[in-house]
Amino acid sequence: MLSCIQPTGEVHLGNYLGALRNWVSGQHENDVFHGIVDLHALTVTETPGVLGDQTLSLAAMLFAVGLDPDVATVFVQSHLPQHSQMAWIMECTVSYGELSRMTQFKDKAAKREADFVSAGLFTYPALQAADILLYDANEVPVGDDQRQHIEITRDIAIRFNHRFGDTFVLPKAVTPKAGARVMDLQNPENKMSKSASGDAGIVYMLDEPAAIERKFKRAVTDSDSVVAYDREKKPGVANLLEILATATDSSPSAVATKYSQYGPLKSDAGAAVIAMLAPIRSRYQELMNDRSELARLIRRGDDRAEAVAAATLARAHAAIGVLPR
Ligand code: TRP
Repeated sequence: MLSCIQPTGEVHLGNYLGALRNWVSGQHENDVFHGIVDLHALTVTETPGVLGDQTLSLAAMLFAVGLDPDVATVFVQSHLPQHSQMAWIMECTVSYGELSRMTQFKDKAAKREADFVSAGLFTYPALQAADILLYDANEVPVGDDQRQHIEITRDIAIRFNHRFGDTFVLPKAVTPKAGARVMDLQNPENKMSKSASGDAGIVYMLDEPAAIERKFKRAVTDSDSVVAYDREKKPGVANLLEILATATDSSPSAVATKYSQYGPLKSDAGAAVIAMLAPIRSRYQELMNDRSELARLIRRGDDRAEAVAAATLARAHAAIGVLPR
């Protein structure tokens, strides 16, 4: 099982409750690989010196939330040359027409209008296919926006196997175990997301307790002052109830019965999130203050990942029949 995450932007409560928490609880059920895909982030990064810092910080966060380096394989994509090497093979196995039909490419290229649209943005799915096929992944848990990329990976694998003989495992997109759908505290109709307009509705994992408290106090609710769990009619209140329920292992409707006013609900939700994040923040700080330990944990994942990736790449080279060096 493989899931990957780009080191762009700060990790927030939506990422944690929606996905990362499931990664942690799923690590004992499957043989899991988690790639920090910094090469994919190159399609959006132009400032020198930030990518490495973001990669390090994301790695620390993945360990801090509870991925166990003895169990889960957390690796950095650019540390393994096999990803770039395999990506070229993928580029030669996918067609220009197939890549042109990727909706994510069309959307992103259109948004950039006259701005620079790199060839990397176009071949992005080939690099993603390399990530997936290198690990013989059976299942790739992804959101709807990534399904097309898994399907094209499957098509690439089928074509390669047909041309050169059975080499790659055919991957399948699976729906991730439902995480909480955390909404923006200021715009509770929208998912909490780093592409949102402002920071006021986003709770970052590394926010100070005072900032978290403030964000919850200012959370948008509605004007009828009845605490009830109704996502459609009362999205702001429902979001607070869900967050509080998730943080305290309860259910939103059970939590709703305990409150008659918005004020206490907001402060309790804030307090529960602060308590939930406190050990994560301190473990994160500890790792960031001990760079050699953090580097050691990353290297451990890199080494385990590389053993698998190198074997798959060798298999692909042998199937093609490139001249061994
Ligand atoms: N494209 C994915 C995203 O934007 C990230 C990604 C890169 C990925 N390689 C992957 C996801 C391999 C799953 C498997 O979210």
